[in-house]
Amino acid sequence: MQQQTHEITELILAAAQKARAETSNEPEPGYTKPVCWPIQCAVGPGLEGAIACESSVGYVNGSKGWLIYRGYDLFDLCAYSTFEEVCYLLLHGRLPRPAELLNLKRELAEYRYLPKTMRLLMSFPVEELNTMAALRLGTLLMRQKQTLRDRDVAKPSIDSAISSDEDSIAMETQPRGSERAAFEFTAAPELNTGTADAAGLPSCYRLIAGVGTIAAAIARLRRGRLPIEPDPELGHAANFLYMITGRRATPVEERVMDVALILHADHGMNASTFASIVVASTLSDIYFSVGAGIAALNGPLHGGANEQVVRTLESIGGPENVPAWFRQAREEKRKIMGFGHRVYKTYDPRARILGPLAKYLAAKSPEIQPLFATAEALEKEVVATLGVEKKIFPNVDFYSGLVYRSLGIDREIFTPVFAVSRVAGWTARVLEYLQNNRIFRPRAVYVGPMNLPYTPLDER
Ligand code: SDX
Repeated sequence: MQQQTHEITELILAAAQKARAETSNEPEPGYTKPVCWPIQCAVGPGLEGAIACESSVGYVNGSKGWLIYRGYDLFDLCAYSTFEEVCYLLLHGRLPRPAELLNLKRELAEYRYLPKTMRLLMSFPVEELNTMAALRLGTLLMRQKQTLRDRDVAKPSIDSAISSDEDSIAMETQPRGSERAAFEFTAAPELNTGTADAAGLPSCYRLIAGVGTIAAAIARLRRGRLPIEPDPELGHAANFLYMITGRRATPVEERVMDVALILHADHGMNASTFASIVVASTLSDIYFSVGAGIAALNGPLHGGANEQVVRTLESIGGPENVPAWFRQAREEKRKIMGFGHRVYKTYDPRARILGPLAKYLAAKSPEIQPLFATAEALEKEVVATLGVEKKIFPNVDFYSGLVYRSLGIDREIFTPVFAVSRVAGWTARVLEYLQNNRIFRPRAVYVGPMNLPYTPLDER
């Protein structure tokens, strides 16, 4: 298994080398130094080109196809780092020291455990809800528990943790007795405002930990199964897969999931990140900001494309059908899900990693091999035409669904997986923006009529 996880690192480094070879002579990045407000910038519809703020959290270089988190190249982070380490990097601005990383992991392990939020969530017909609507509901239920100072102090002792803690959800997997960790609820810290802090760093950790638990519970409930409690021994990626599938991930599955979480974590001023900081700029709290991010990410033009891509590949039915399907799509001027990007005018670096990962997994998984073959044929067809004519290339959503399918994740959970990762970028950018907050209030050019006289109802 060690060899296979090493193969994944090699695959990422080879993708990095290919990317640098193909785009090294592209122009240098644009805005990467502090600006002097107010600034002049050409703004198109959808705020295209508008500079909303300064940030050191992350940078997307569209012409070179680079993605950088706090100065570190995405390829290096996928090759050598972990999602937990990347969360620390995004939130704190530097890589953690060993003790800091251990402390973050311990906090995430504690915050992953949400028995009362789970019980509230299960009182709703989750299986009938849009999965992102359910995720947003769960996130706001989490807020309810934190901001209203969940006063219960449940200190289950190890030997009675299962029987006496009426809040623990009946586990599908047999408890493991004394090994079971003892979880302690403590009443949220008394703050001068009298409510738990719902905007600071602890809330970011709670959201990063809890959104994964909620997404996994939604996946279980949709299958008619009970949520599974997190295992404090497992890391974030492994716990997420365990809470969905009920079995321990293999080292390869865990590594692949961790890489997928790393490369979805942040992406400049995308629609869902912008939605999060707009809400934060009104001094609403970070749970509402993340709720806004989840709502925006749901759209098929944004995070919702990964689910649509797999539907497209299934409808095409095989690589031999791609040319005819693509011809018809072009005639009908249809947008092809998983392709194109507002910023990248070359390959999305995340697709450069997810494509080879999907290929690696397809070689071992008969279920996704045919879908991968169709995807590869479609990629060739689009890059040879729209890539040349309009610089339209695969984006992060094109191969991610195939990777998730091979990890045993249902299609309706693909977009929630995006949120499980992006909550790190949303919270990091909210914290950063609030350091120098100014409520967002752009303008709209009025193009309607003027000076109309009021017409009484009986004269209309
Ligand atoms: C993500 O912003 C981010 O950073 C987002 C994201 C992140 O990590 O947060 O990277 C994640 O959202 C990835 C994108 C996932 N969405 C899709 O895959 C949906 C399909 N893609 C398109 O809808 C589109 O490419 C967008 C929405 C992603 C970007 O659209 P733009 O920048 O507004 O481009 P556009 O619609 O103005 O298109 C420009 C031209 C048009 O042709 P003309 O009218 O000029 O002739 O390119 C064409 C478009 O028709 N075009 C496509 C196309 N995308 C653009 N044609 C066919 N298929 C496509 N996918």
